[in-house]
Amino acid sequence: MADFTGKTALITGSGRGMGRSHAAILAARGAAVVIHDINEAWAEETARRIRDKGGRCLVACGDVSKPGDMQDVVRRGEAEFGGIDILINNAGISAERAGLDGITEDLYERMFGVHVKGTIFTTQAAVPGMIARRSGRIVNISSIWGMTGHHFGATYCAAKAAILGLTKAWAKEFAPHNICVNAVAPGAVKTEMQVEVDGLEAVKAQAKAIPLGRLAEPEEMSYPVIFLASSEASFVTGQVLSPNGGDTIVGV
Ligand SMILES: NC(=O)c1ccc[n+]([C@@H]2O[C@H](COP(=O)([O-])OP(=O)(O)OC[C@H]3O[C@@H](n4cnc5c(N)ncnc54)[C@H](O)[C@@H]3O)[C@@H](O)[C@H]2O)c1
Repeated sequence: MADFTGKTALITGSGRGMGRSHAAILAARGAAVVIHDINEAWAEETARRIRDKGGRCLVACGDVSKPGDMQDVVRRGEAEFGGIDILINNAGISAERAGLDGITEDLYERMFGVHVKGTIFTTQAAVPGMIARRSGRIVNISSIWGMTGHHFGATYCAAKAAILGLTKAWAKEFAPHNICVNAVAPGAVKTEMQVEVDGLEAVKAQAKAIPLGRLAEPEEMSYPVIFLASSEASFVTGQVLSPNGGDTIVGV
């Protein structure tokens, strides 16, 4: 089990769901964590749970789609803990059902603003410190739908696919600085987001179609994310790991 003592991790969108789980497990393994979300009350609740268990954390809120906010979040994390070693670009919004005719500029701006712009400019804020320390781990959260597509969710799928492109390009760009960049593309996970998108009954039906016969618990995504964030993944970069219960198994 990797130990994160002496490391600092910034997890965007860690006010609830998978981000909260990533933050809690990293903190339990010794990392100082920067809890970020657009919803301050949720972020404070994550921090309270971590502090109750003796973990170290800072709450730094902001809108991930606003580069100025994310510069501020990164600067606050660096000032408090001395540097960001691990960045998990996790903040996300749910896929909204829209066929081609239903795609509006507003939908496009929101999907690409949170997922693509957010990932780009948070990374831009965090990477100079990693380069200065010649060490860093970036884990970008994509989605199974970024690989497979999904009916009537084209803008979400496209934004999540873009994250895979960013991951591979940055893995090459930052390799000379000993910064590893990977992506996790979750299958269906039991979070508030999943229920919001599909409703509980649809989620149950969806689970039946997954070879393992169920949705993942948030912490089942955290372990792969945390592996990629750890020293144990020192030769892994530019890769996409999709924990999805077997949903994308294909023949030879
Ligand atoms: N739940 C799933 O089944 C699933 C599957 C594949 C991928 N994902 C991806 O995993 C990530 C986490 O999803 P989750 O299910 O935990 O969702 P969630 O809704 O429970 O958590 C997402 C968090 O991001 C925050 N956020 C949203 N917009 C923001 C903004 N503009 N600025 C700052 N924070 C913002 C939210 O407030 C929330 O706390 C997302 O990127 C999501 O797209 C989820």
